[in-house]
Amino acid sequence: MTTWCDAKTAVQVVASGNRVYLQGMCSTPTPLIEALVARGEELLDVELLTALPFGPVPYTDPRWVGHFHVRTPFVGASEREAVNAGRASYAPVFLSYVPTLLAPDAPWRIDVAFIQVSPPDKQGYCSLGPSVDATRAAVDYARQVVALVNPRVPRTLGDSFVHVSRLDFAVQWEGPLHEVGRQAPDQTQLEIGRHVAGLIEDGATLQLGIGAIPDAVLQALTDRRDLGIHSEMFSDGVLDLVERGVITGARKTIDRGKIVASFVVGSRRLMDFLDDNPMVELRSTAYTNDSKNIRQFDHMVAINSALQMDLTGQVCAESIGTAQYSGVGGQMDFLRGAALAPHGRPILALPSTAHTTKASAGNMPFELPPVEGQVSRIVPILTPGAAVTTTRAHVHYVVTEYGTAMLLGLSLAERARSLIAIAAPQFREPLERAAYDLHLLYRHCWGGFRWLTGGTRLTQRTCPGDGD
Ligand code: COA
Repeated sequence: MTTWCDAKTAVQVVASGNRVYLQGMCSTPTPLIEALVARGEELLDVELLTALPFGPVPYTDPRWVGHFHVRTPFVGASEREAVNAGRASYAPVFLSYVPTLLAPDAPWRIDVAFIQVSPPDKQGYCSLGPSVDATRAAVDYARQVVALVNPRVPRTLGDSFVHVSRLDFAVQWEGPLHEVGRQAPDQTQLEIGRHVAGLIEDGATLQLGIGAIPDAVLQALTDRRDLGIHSEMFSDGVLDLVERGVITGARKTIDRGKIVASFVVGSRRLMDFLDDNPMVELRSTAYTNDSKNIRQFDHMVAINSALQMDLTGQVCAESIGTAQYSGVGGQMDFLRGAALAPHGRPILALPSTAHTTKASAGNMPFELPPVEGQVSRIVPILTPGAAVTTTRAHVHYVVTEYGTAMLLGLSLAERARSLIAIAAPQFREPLERAAYDLHLLYRHCWGGFRWLTGGTRLTQRTCPGDGD
């Protein structure tokens, strides 16, 4: 039985000690969040299970410590400060696994789910809109469901339907979804996009991770044919390639002809594209991110990014030193799935440097000092506290604006050489010096040349610290 009421009444369903799931990103149900926080004084120990909320997050304010506490598998801009101050908690978990954690007998059992849906169709079904992801499981498992029913939510197809009778409390509301604008890729990103595009053949199925690089990759693919999408997420860049007839999904091994993802982030134009579109199926992350499904695609290409990588290939994609920046997300799900797929290509694409405003203290072991406000993302060892998101054994292709390294099967010495070759030129010499100090590389002089591990002949350039 559905009770139609206002937001203030609907959120009365939450009691102290409850765990409340909040649908996230473009679908973040802001009026419900605001109504819940307005009850903050009377609630204690309410856990909010969040999924990258867009818009205001008043529950992270220090005044609500003891009243609300966030648990999140992915840290976004709005909750980052609270997580790093210790007022909110990050839980590292593969996104493929989150739906399982929400089951009634699992550790993240949910009392109440706050969602935002389209109005019921003539059969009484509402759609979860652009965010099906773990929300599918939250709606299936929550003891109570509270929904904003908003005509601006696109009626997405796939695993997105919720019968109106499943809504315990429904609030009629009309307002814009949280939109995300596009930023034109810069020169570095375009260069990376061109290198990555060189690894993508006609008929490939793509997964695109989060960040600016995926859009740059898509811009470099306008001359390809019959690309497919099987991804955790996608955004406006995909729409351009659909309109040009590049993305057709015609050669996908499964879900042929369909764009399959678990959530979509982007503009109103993108939301209109999703509306009642049989070409797009939004499904639970339990399906999209399951490596058993991903590995079925012939020519599966997974494109993800990183914040830092060490000379052996260990990837940090979620923290800057000890400061949590984002989350594990689907990176390992997709890199592993693509590695196991026939002709699959798991790719990590990252700019060689990052802008830093922080002067180097210079007291961390093997820390490379910044050069003109830039730090190298390829480093001798990961910054202390940096999380390893993807292990070095899982890494195959690494792309920067300076080229591509293929690490699979390489020794540690060969990995160091390959990664130094695609690092920013101003950091190559200090990286090489560190690689010697770490005994990743070995040099000796013979016959007037310097020889490195693996028999690679080094040019006449002086090796720093060379005592011969
Ligand atoms: N040292 C210091 N600062 C660094 C840094 C480093 N090594 N690397 C990046 N930064 C800073 C950047 O300068 C930037 O700062 P700014 O916002 O002040 O400009 C910020 O960190 C973000 O870096 P950027 O490279 O622009 O991030 P992005 O938006 O392209 O996202 C990831 C990259 C890795 C964070 C993102 O892809 C991610 O969260 N991945 C993990 C999850 C995942 O892969 N999911 C895939 C399935 S969807």
